[in-house]
Amino acid sequence: MNIKNIKSEFPIFKQKINGKPLVYLDSANSSQKPQTVINSMSSFYETEFSNVGRSVHSLAVKATNRFEDSRDKVKDYLNANEREEIIFTKGATESINLIASSFGEKFIKEGDEILTTELEHHSNYVPWHFLRQKKGAIIKFAPVNENGEVEIDEIKKLINSKTKIIAITHISNVTGTIMPIKNIVDLAKEKNIPVLVDGTQGAPHLEIDMQDLGCDFYAISCHKMYGPNGLGILYAKKKWLDELPPYQGGGGMISEVLKEKVTFAETPTKFEAGTMQTAEVVAFSEAIKFIQELGIKNIQNHENEIMEYGIEKLKKNNSVNIIGDPKDRGSVICFTMKGIHPHDIATILDEDGVAIRAGHHCCQILHDKLGMPATARASLGVYNSKEDIDILSDAINNCKKIFKV
Ligand SMILES: Cc1ncc(COP(=O)(O)O)c(C=O)c1O
Repeated sequence: MNIKNIKSEFPIFKQKINGKPLVYLDSANSSQKPQTVINSMSSFYETEFSNVGRSVHSLAVKATNRFEDSRDKVKDYLNANEREEIIFTKGATESINLIASSFGEKFIKEGDEILTTELEHHSNYVPWHFLRQKKGAIIKFAPVNENGEVEIDEIKKLINSKTKIIAITHISNVTGTIMPIKNIVDLAKEKNIPVLVDGTQGAPHLEIDMQDLGCDFYAISCHKMYGPNGLGILYAKKKWLDELPPYQGGGGMISEVLKEKVTFAETPTKFEAGTMQTAEVVAFSEAIKFIQELGIKNIQNHENEIMEYGIEKLKKNNSVNIIGDPKDRGSVICFTMKGIHPHDIATILDEDGVAIRAGHHCCQILHDKLGMPATARASLGVYNSKEDIDILSDAINNCKKIFKV
């Protein structure tokens, strides 16, 4: 496999959109899936399907082994200490809700503080808001500066004896800012404060090593990592998982159920209530294999090259205003155009086969701060090329012509 012709591994690019080749610039929203992941899903359903962790018949045993084998692959990929530190969820949103709910239940009381930033996706704010409502906790927001960065000093200033958890994104899905997670973890460790990282945008683009990052919790969306939809991962240090109460109750997560009392299974099963995604978990190991074969560093370098080319090209267009100028940027380019609403930009670009996203990208607090209700966003995946950026740029010029700006 070679990054230069990687598009051929993704069947979605065989089709035309509005008569034009598909230029997919919406990977921060969800990535496309390589053939190997799609094949793995369908072959699992065709020949191996069974529910996992329940029956003892041959299919069930094989499916359970495949499911648990995926957990091992994720553990190795993240360099977690133990396989029990990997919980499958339905997405990063559920991973964060799990921690906000279970950690909040056990460790947060009235007046305690949760430290987050103005950069966060709603998935890393609303679960903490629930806790604020339920327990009377306080949420503190480290401010974003004019470049779209959150300075470490601003985080430092807000840490005090009431801070019970720091919940922070790895990469902003709007400004592309890569947060200095290791420095934040070092700061937090001095005060014994756990750190939750929303790794939704980090995991598909950066090398992520839990020993190196040192965070306590890391949330992942598998569908943004070339994996199946409806699947996420929560990495959590085992010491926490052993202590935290379960998030949801139901089949699978129990040890013993009596009329008087219920006891729970050990982690990770304690946090995986009910029938789990099976084909998705199995197929995710193919997504990891895909990333490993290409090499995450190569993917990152490739995306950086295209992102920098894109920024330079769009900067030359005097109708385009690029949002944020962080020193460390992931593969996200948000922009606005004078006199054209972002939704109109996205609609017109679509006529040229260019798929971008428009809106507040589930970051209303950040958009309020930017003083704009919506932006347009082009976000990259491994399959993008400089040619895609050229097509984007032409489509933007076409947009200018239509709107006469
Ligand atoms: C930074 C960030 N956090 C969290 C999420 C939520 O991910 P999911 O909807 O897959 O759970 C997203 C999705 O776009 C995101 O970009």
